[in-house]
Amino acid sequence: MKAIILTSAGGPENLSLQDIEMPQPKEGEVVLQVHSISINPVDIKTRKGGSLYASLNESGPVILGWDVSGVITAVGTGVQAFREGDAVFGMVNFPGHGRAYAENVAAPAAHLSLKPANVSHEEAAATTLAALTAWQVLVQQANLQKGQQVLIHAAAGGVGHFAVQIAKHFGATVAGTASAANEAFLEGLGVDRFIDYTTQDFTGLLRDFDIVLDPVGGDTTLRSLDAMKPGGMLVSIVGGVKEPVQRSAAAKGILAKNYLVQSSGDDMRQLAILLAEGSLKPTLSHQYPFAAIANAHRQIETGRTRGKIVVNLT
Ligand SMILES: NC(=O)c1ccc[n+]([C@@H]2O[C@H](COP(=O)([O-])OP(=O)(O)OC[C@H]3O[C@@H](n4cnc5c(N)ncnc54)[C@H](OP(=O)(O)O)[C@@H]3O)[C@@H](O)[C@H]2O)c1
Repeated sequence: MKAIILTSAGGPENLSLQDIEMPQPKEGEVVLQVHSISINPVDIKTRKGGSLYASLNESGPVILGWDVSGVITAVGTGVQAFREGDAVFGMVNFPGHGRAYAENVAAPAAHLSLKPANVSHEEAAATTLAALTAWQVLVQQANLQKGQQVLIHAAAGGVGHFAVQIAKHFGATVAGTASAANEAFLEGLGVDRFIDYTTQDFTGLLRDFDIVLDPVGGDTTLRSLDAMKPGGMLVSIVGGVKEPVQRSAAAKGILAKNYLVQSSGDDMRQLAILLAEGSLKPTLSHQYPFAAIANAHRQIETGRTRGKIVVNLT
């Protein structure tokens, strides 16, 4: 079968389409024939030699990717939840070696959900790492409740556009930051208060927010505390909560933490319910064939992607 091997840390030209052996399912695993995968900024950071590169390289060759949607072709011992022929999707083995840039992927059954029949493989593949992050941060870490005020930075991006939809689904009032080009897009998703971070200072405009989701970091993390109420929670997904932020948050009675998404079939099933009923809809701004995966990397590397980008194998 074909897979994209990262020949060494570096640029997108190091992504090499090669023939490797088919994976076999271990106990508790299934193997799926992949229809679509999605690309995330962590793929880029790891490709360059940062983020998860060192740990993946220990179990090399390095095959990037974690987000898959496909059909099960083999079932390992001890798997009760799925059968051959089931269409499934999920974020596989994150933050371990997902090896999703491949025609066939071995995945723990516990990381997958059945794909809703009314959702395409492209849409399902998109609704994985980024959507799980939004779900786990808002619902599990911050205990999002109806009527709360939620500030979502980078609201037009992969994580952000899911976070907006989840927060609205729970009945929150949502403020979102993006550049002016994304104003209509975010209003279409239901954002109540759009803030153009290139021309406006959100700290002068927002008060008493309950929850902040921070995919930006730097001084955005620290300044976000000024928009929050005591008892609120700020969650940074880019390690933005460092010592000065901790100190300032503690002084204001705000809980601030960093968070890293984890693979979870249970959470994937919650996302599958929202997808099936239409409460969650991924925006697929770019799609690429498998052989053009380097271009998918170049796109996400711009830092200006709207919604998600997907790579299709079939
Ligand atoms: N810890 C975790 O578990 C976890 C999980 C997922 C992602 N992450 C990290 O979170 C970050 C975002 O991930 P993603 O998938 O959402 O990325 P993405 O899809 O590439 O985000 C792109 C979006 O960011 C917006 N943006 C860029 N700079 C901004 C700023 N200063 N203020 C507001 N918006 C800004 C852009 O909007 P404009 O074009 O309008 O500027 C664009 O729509 C990445 O660093 C990623 O590695 C961490």
